[in-house]
Amino acid sequence: MFDFLTDSRSDDTIAITALTEAALPDWLDTQPASVRKWADLQGFKAKKAQIVSLPGDDGGVGRVLLGLGKEGEALSPWTFVGLPATLPRGNYAFDGVPDAAFATTAALGWALGTYRFERYKLSDSEAPRPHPHLAIPEGCDRAYVEAAARATFLVRDLINTPPNDMGPADLEREAFDLAARLGAEATSVIGEDLIDANFPAIYAVGKGSERAPRLIDLRWGDPSHPKVTLVGKGVCFDTGGYNLKPGSGMALMKKDMGGAAHVLGLAHMIVSLNVPVRLRVLVAAVENSVSGNAFRPSDVIDTHKGLTVEIGNTDAEGRLILADALSLASEESPELIVDFATLTGAARSALGPELPPYFTDGEDLAAAFSASAAATADPVWRLPLWPAYADNLKSNIADLRNDGGPFAGAVVAALFLKRFVARPERWIHLDIYGWNPEKRAGRPVGGEAMAMRAIFDMIRTRFES
Ligand code: BES
Ligand code: MN
Ligand code: ZN
Repeated sequence: MFDFLTDSRSDDTIAITALTEAALPDWLDTQPASVRKWADLQGFKAKKAQIVSLPGDDGGVGRVLLGLGKEGEALSPWTFVGLPATLPRGNYAFDGVPDAAFATTAALGWALGTYRFERYKLSDSEAPRPHPHLAIPEGCDRAYVEAAARATFLVRDLINTPPNDMGPADLEREAFDLAARLGAEATSVIGEDLIDANFPAIYAVGKGSERAPRLIDLRWGDPSHPKVTLVGKGVCFDTGGYNLKPGSGMALMKKDMGGAAHVLGLAHMIVSLNVPVRLRVLVAAVENSVSGNAFRPSDVIDTHKGLTVEIGNTDAEGRLILADALSLASEESPELIVDFATLTGAARSALGPELPPYFTDGEDLAAAFSASAAATADPVWRLPLWPAYADNLKSNIADLRNDGGPFAGAVVAALFLKRFVARPERWIHLDIYGWNPEKRAGRPVGGEAMAMRAIFDMIRTRFES
C-alpha cells in the first residue's frame, strides 16, 4: 500500500530542501544566481507548506523547495502533505534531515498527502496520476508512519462512504474485518436483542430504521494489562428523526459515524504498534430515521444504567446511544475511557471545524493529553464540564432530558454523557467535526481524522512505561 515510500535513493533522486523563513537568506547565499533568481521570481518565502520546484538542466525538476514557516513552531505533518499531491512522478528525498522527529513527521505528511477516495470513480477519464516516491528519511519511525497513515485512511474511507453503503450492518462488517486483521475478538448485539441485553437507548434511537441498530464490542490484548476502552458514536445517517434536520443540516450527516471511524482507526494504531493495554472498543451503530416506528419527541426512554430520559429532541440522538455504551464501559472500571463523537453543532460553532473540544474531570489526564496533542501537532482545546449547566438537563417527569436549551450546547451534551460515566476523572470525551470542509493541497474535502494521533500518543506514553 505504501510503495511510494522507498528504502533507498536512486541516481535520479530529486532533492527536497526544507527551509524555515529564518534559514532561507543564508541558504540562498550559498546558491548560484540562477537559483536565487528563480526562487525570487516564484515568490518563495519559505512560508509554511509553500512548495517551489527549481528546473533541472535536463528539463526535469532539479530541486524542490519546501517552506517550514516560522522558526520554533511544532512541526506538523500538514506542512508536508502538499508534496505528493503537487509534485510530478519521480523519486524524491529530503536533503539534510535534522532529526528523527522531522523524518517521521515528513514521511507521515507525505503518506497522508497521497490519499484519494476512489471507490465511486469508475470512469477511465478520471484515471489517477501516479504518486511520486519518497526515500524514507533517516531515523524515520516507519512502523508509526504506516500505522498512523493507514488508520487515517480508514477513518476517511469510512466517513466518505455514502450512507447507502455504510449502514449499521456495513459498519459492523468493517469493525469485524478490522478485528480479524488485528487478531481481536468481536461480538455484537443486534436489533431487538438490544432490549434483552439491556441497551434500551441504542434500541430506541435505532428502531425507526429498516437497518437494525447494534452495539459492536471488540477486545484485544493481554487481559492482565491496564484496561483502555474506546467508545464511538456510529450514527450512520442522522436525519434528525421527527425533529427533522433541514436539507442544509442533513447534507453532511453521513459523517455522523465519524466517532466510530476514529475509534476503529485508533484500534488499528494501538494493535499494530502493540501498545501493552487490554483494549476494548465499543461502537453504537444506528441510523436516526423517520418512520412509523421511530422514537418521538416527548417519549421517555430507559437506559442501560437505569436512568430515564425524556426525549426533548430526537436530533440529540448521539448522547443517548453513547449513554448506554459509556455505562457498559464503566462496569469493568477501565483505567481510561475515551469517546469520540460528532456530537454537537455547538462544538463547531465554538471552535470551528479544525479544533475539537475535549472534556474531562481528570486534571492530570488533561495535562498529558494536551502535551500529546502538541507533540503530534494534532490540536485540541479543553472545554469545561461546567457543573451549573447541568440544570439544563432537568426533566419534569424523567431523570434527565436529552436536549438542553440554547446555550453551551457542547458543554451540556458532555454533562449528559458524564451522568453515565462512573469515573469522569478517567474519561475524555471528544466532540469532533471529522470533516475537511475546504479543499487544501493534500487534504481533499471529506472525512478527516482529528485528535486520533494525539490520543494514541497519550495512551502509548502512559502505558508503555
Ligand atoms: N450529529 C449532530 C451534531 C452535528 C451537527 C455535528 C452538525 C456536526 C455538524 C447531532 O446529532 C445533533 O443533531 N445535535 C443537535 C443537538 C440539539 C438538538 C440539542 C445539535 O447540535 O444541534
Ligand atoms: Mn442529531
Ligand atoms: Zn448526530
